[in-house]
Amino acid sequence: MKVFLIGFMGSGKTTIGKKLANYLKYEFIDLDKLIESKAGMSIVSYFELYGEGAFRELERDILQKSEFPENVIIATGGGAPCFGDNMEWMNKNGLVAYLSLSPKALASRLEHSKTDRPLIRHLKGDELIDYISSKLQEREVYYNQAKYVVSASDLTAERLSFYLNLG
Ligand code: S3P
Repeated sequence: MKVFLIGFMGSGKTTIGKKLANYLKYEFIDLDKLIESKAGMSIVSYFELYGEGAFRELERDILQKSEFPENVIIATGGGAPCFGDNMEWMNKNGLVAYLSLSPKALASRLEHSKTDRPLIRHLKGDELIDYISSKLQEREVYYNQAKYVVSASDLTAERLSFYLNLG
């Protein structure tokens, strides 16, 4: 089974994804890391050099053209489901779970780790919360197309596996 974890920046896709993969003895792939290794540079540098449009094309290509293992947890970047036909493609090719969190909870997690995220690196405090609230509202149209919507607060691998009927 290919499991795609989607959700806003800071929702913990990579952290819980690694734990779930470990729990299920699946492989784990971080789409952002895969993009960075194929591009030969960080996502921040890629945004700076080529802009967001080019990044979205690369992201779509790598998502839809990579050969993923049969049993794998794939943590996607927060914007991946919201561009082109990525959401439809993920729903067709695997099981998609949206890790949901409130803007406040996301902001407090992101305050500590936003330097490598080009869309929010210059925001803090209320500005960050406002940005997250409005972006999340736009993006939930896509995120909510996931087969499963799971609250990401206090989530464990065991519980996530149970919610997704993976055992
Ligand atoms: C983005 C999220 C990032 C990364 C890029 C753009 C977004 O991934 O793909 O900075 O548009 O939300 P994470 O969700 O893993 O931070």
